Amino acid sequence: MPGANSVTSNQETLHKDLEEVVRKYARTTFLRPIADHTREAFAEAEEFVRKFYNAVGKGDPSQVETIKCMDPPSEDDSAENIAKQAPLTVILDSGCGTGESTIHIARRFPSIPVIGIDKSCARLDKAGNPSQTAGEDVPPNAFWIRAELLDFWRLALERVQAGEWTIPYHAVYYPNPWPKQSEATRRFHMHPIFPTLLALGKVIELRTNWEIYAREFAEAAKIVLNENAEGATVPANTQITCESFDPVAPETAFERKYKEARQTLWRVVIKT
Ligand SMILES: C[S@@+](CC[C@H](N)C(=O)[O-])C[C@H]1O[C@@H](n2cnc3c(N)ncnc32)[C@H](O)[C@@H]1O
Repeated sequence: MPGANSVTSNQETLHKDLEEVVRKYARTTFLRPIADHTREAFAEAEEFVRKFYNAVGKGDPSQVETIKCMDPPSEDDSAENIAKQAPLTVILDSGCGTGESTIHIARRFPSIPVIGIDKSCARLDKAGNPSQTAGEDVPPNAFWIRAELLDFWRLALERVQAGEWTIPYHAVYYPNPWPKQSEATRRFHMHPIFPTLLALGKVIELRTNWEIYAREFAEAAKIVLNENAEGATVPANTQITCESFDPVAPETAFERKYKEARQTLWRVVIKT
């Protein structure tokens, strides 16, 4: 895995065009047509969510911090009743790679389906293997799907805006940093998809081994949320934190490599 090296970049601080680019995209809509394969993948993910709730009952987003064990099934858990109980609570693990984080998150929130999404077949093929689960079963709420995030997120936002899904937690762990200044608009926060990403989840957690990526991501979030508030300051109930952290036990393959190489890791948490 090319990853244990620190990020090297010709950029020493936040990108000079960050504010201009983020402001521009905050006012526009990303219109690239959605690929058929991601529509199909999204339909599979929706089916998993429906079947999960059919089997075990519906997660309560207000309980997301405290849910410790699977809700017992009840007589109200027919497909019809579940549909009436929308929105369904769903957690996303975007760019999950080999899927380890999906297992950790699924164990943390056992009553909520957790969808790990990645475009790499080779990485997803490793998801759920015994070395990741320490010999235990894959949690029944973990699901992996191959898809393009820029399309999957827009389909997911449609569900959120239609009141069908709610996403209390969205993990974006160690996205490709695109460290060259000339490639900066491939970073999620300098891409037209960023307002969609921010609108999707109530809590977004970004992890990265590049401090500049973390600081840019946090700054870009402030800019977009300000734009949405029509020139006001970031809405009062929004919290954006950006800090270094030291995971006790690594939760992803990249996190493990970086920790072994004693790199400082960064985390941005956005609560809207
Ligand atoms: C640096 S790896 C991190 C993987 C994992 N989160 C980890 O920490 O081990 C970034 C992952 O994001 C995936 N990825 C990047 N851009 C993507 C996109 N637009 N759609 C889907 N997956 C993407 C890559 O395939 C890769 O597995």
